[in-house]
Amino acid sequence: CTTSFKLNTGYSIPAIGLGTWQGTPGTDESELLQSTIKYALSQGYHCIDTAAAYEVEEDVRAAIAESEVPREEIFVVTKLWNAMHDRVEEAFLTSLQKLGLEYIDLYLMHWPMSSDDQMNVLDHPTPAETWLSMEALIKKYPTKLRSIGVSNFSEKTIKPLLEVATIIPAVNQIEIHPMLPQFELVDAFAKHGILTMAYSPLGQYNSPVLTHPDIIALAEKYKVPTGALVLSWEVQRGIVAVPKSTNKERIVSNITLLPELSPEDKKVLDEFHLRKGMHRRLCTVGNGVRPTGNDIVFGWTY
Ligand code: A2P
Repeated sequence: CTTSFKLNTGYSIPAIGLGTWQGTPGTDESELLQSTIKYALSQGYHCIDTAAAYEVEEDVRAAIAESEVPREEIFVVTKLWNAMHDRVEEAFLTSLQKLGLEYIDLYLMHWPMSSDDQMNVLDHPTPAETWLSMEALIKKYPTKLRSIGVSNFSEKTIKPLLEVATIIPAVNQIEIHPMLPQFELVDAFAKHGILTMAYSPLGQYNSPVLTHPDIIALAEKYKVPTGALVLSWEVQRGIVAVPKSTNKERIVSNITLLPELSPEDKKVLDEFHLRKGMHRRLCTVGNGVRPTGNDIVFGWTY
């Protein structure tokens, strides 16, 4: 896939990247992750999405170091963990060192809320305060950091941040797939010039989207696997997607995008979440962490 999108910082981001969160049961081995990343780079991936919280930055480092793809051709995304909002510079320099890179392409605030080490949510720093620290960071290290952005922000949580920001976030990375299409949120952020990145773009492990008979039929029509169909739908919406896979065949097919989905076929994917049992609900509390404000952009249950 050679499609890319322009960020509000002027840099281009590839439309498809490789996710590195080890959320798939049985695959939490660094050797497997390293060979997966190396393979993906050799097959044309130019974007790697990671995070301090995934604890795999050193594996990303090893894979990039051993790959034949030049560093400047790889767009590297990593994220500030919740418990480090009061130590943004320290967190960034640690990620940079673990990744073994001269610079990071995109540094995201992983979640709006700050927390202590036990994941208890703190009132301070607020998302806006943390954002100002990220602005100070990019100003202090213009050669080590290219763009900054956010993740898991809703319209409500971004508002106070935008009120104080002198740099508009380049990206908001959120959960998006046909069970959670997030149309309004994507549009609202686009109005501010913020590009949306989709995590879990296929609907995570054992995604019911990929095995649904109607989606299989549609994919057959285009002669592609269901994963490629879903990712094409996202990219055609102007969204960057970072699918995960450790399977060689799927790693390759996930960057094989369709030329164009017809409007009727796009509609099938647009409306998929309206089907019974195929909607991922938004929750206000999840996974032991509580959002700032009373809304959040992701869901945990079907
Ligand atoms: P695998 O590593 O065996 O390919 P998401 O990125 O939405 O979180 O989804 C990741 C999950 O989907 C992983 O369990 C991955 O398993 C699986 N997966 C990735 N690509 C495809 C695909 N093209 N078709 C089916 N399953 C896929």
